[in-house]
Order: sequence, then C-alpha cells, then structure tokens
Amino acid sequence: MVIMTTTSSLTFLPVLERIAEEMERTPGRGRAADYIPALAALDPRRFGMAVAELDGTVYGVGEWREPFSTQSVTKVFTLALDLAREGDELWEHVGREPSGNPFNSLVQLEYENGIPRNPFINAGALVVTDRLQTRTGDAAGELLAFLRAESGNTSLDFDQEVAASETAHGDRNAALAHFMASYGNIDNDVPTLLDQYFRQCSITASCADLALATGFLARHGIRADGSRLLTRSQAKQVNAVMLTCGTYDAAGNFAYRVGLPGKSGVGGGIIAVVPGRCTLCVWSPGLDERGNSVAGVAALDLFTTLTGLSVF
Ligand code: DON
Repeated sequence: MVIMTTTSSLTFLPVLERIAEEMERTPGRGRAADYIPALAALDPRRFGMAVAELDGTVYGVGEWREPFSTQSVTKVFTLALDLAREGDELWEHVGREPSGNPFNSLVQLEYENGIPRNPFINAGALVVTDRLQTRTGDAAGELLAFLRAESGNTSLDFDQEVAASETAHGDRNAALAHFMASYGNIDNDVPTLLDQYFRQCSITASCADLALATGFLARHGIRADGSRLLTRSQAKQVNAVMLTCGTYDAAGNFAYRVGLPGKSGVGGGIIAVVPGRCTLCVWSPGLDERGNSVAGVAALDLFTTLTGLSVF
C-alpha cells in the first residue's frame, strides 16, 4: 500500500515500490531482538520504508506509517542536541573512531580510561545522554520534543512497557555507566542516567516520523522550521560518525554496501542520509547477529544501487 502525504515531489516512489517487492520475495529475514522481551514477539517479515525530501515531502511503502521502537536510532538525535549545546568539548569525553566491537561491549573501556570509542556504541551514548541531562535537566524529554517538532507528529511518545523491560534487563548498561563513572566520565547519578537512557531508547516512531526528523542532517544542520541546529561543519561531523560507527562492528560492510551515513537500532529501524538530497528510514524487525535489520540493510543497499545516490 502506498499513501502520499503531499503530491509535490515523489521522485523515489517507483524505486521504493520495487524495493518493497524485492523484500517480499526475500527469505531469511533475521530474528527480532529477544534481550528486550517487549520486542521479541515482532514478526521479522514486517517491512516499511520512507523517504523525506528536503522540503518535508514524505512518502513510503509497506508499513511506513507504523510506529516501532526507535532504540539506538535516537543516539543520532541526542548527539546532535548535545553537540549543538556544548560544541567540541563533547569530544573530550567520547571518541569518534569505529569500535569494531559489539554495541554493548565493555572491553575497550578500561584500557581507554573510561572514554568510549564513539557516541553510537552504548557506552558512548550513555556519555552523550549524561551530558545532555546535565545541560537540560531532562535529556529524554528534550529528545522527544525535538522528534515531535521535526516530524510534525505531536503524538510521539515513550513506550513505558519497553522502558520497563529494558530497566529490568539493564545490567550491562548499568555496568557500563558505573565503570565510566569510576573514571569521572559520568556527571549524573547512574540510576538517573539509566532512566533517561532507557526512556530515550523506548520512544516509538514510524519510518515517516524518523525520515522527517533526520532531515536536518541532509539540510546541513537546518531544522524543519528553518532555524539552525548545527553548523554546516557539525552536520558533516555527525554524518561522518554515522558512516563510520552507525552500525557498530558492521559499519565497514554497511559503508561498502550502502555508501550512506546510517544509524540502526535493535527495534529494526535504520535511518540514512543523502546529504543535500533526502533522508530515508527503513524498518524491519528481523536482525542479524550484529543487531542490524537484515531487510533494512538490504533495502538501503538496493536504494543506492538503483538510484546511484551515495556519498561516494
Ligand atoms: O542499550 C540497549 O541495549 C538498547 N536500548 C539500545 C540498543 C540498540 O538499539 C543497539 N542497536 N543496534
């Protein structure tokens, strides 16, 4: 099913329709994340994909209006919100190198003195959320307000069941936060930070919402209302970190196959940016062993192959 919100420009709609047909035919769609029980029941064959153009035109195929758990996709937005506030000082507390390790790994933190490799592994995202919390007093609320404003969807919200499920299974993130606190790299008390982080990850949004909310990265830092969130350089930096670190220890393969800045989440969503042109969001809950959506990566791969659009 295809629903259009505007008729001004639907350049990529035939491409999306072709991708949806291909995905329908593809077997082996991975497995939904089972370490968060609230996500485990999702059918891995579900699929939706949306494109948002620079002027806010948005269209899609499949379940592109269906809300799903955004999870680590939100790490892009908290990074942008914190970078906008504190600028380069952030990079004294979190690096910007690929980790080559799973998203929830602890292994590098000790020999790198509590400074996580990048803002998109869990340790790095915890640092970013902590710093945003210090600056705003409500990091998750700030994020939610941003997503609502950029998507124009005021009904976006936290999913209390998912947040509670993560809190109940949050030992690994708690360990990361306490360990970094022991190096002085966390300002807030750990329970407050974890509460903010789990609520952040629990936000539910659709492909349409997330494609629109990512638009500032294709517009070189300009928000939907025309105001500036990031400098042009900062927008480039966030896109670069997405390209090199946005899909964890599969970032090299993602860059090879898709050739765009992208960020995945274990809810099965992936956002991607074609700077100066458009943004994409794809959702399919079946994950590979690294936590990236199987059909999501395949769909983005096909998109750049069919359109010839990539940053390379
Ligand atoms: O920290 C966690 O475990 C999750 N709330 C977020 C993980 C996630 O989405 C990583 N992604 N692929």
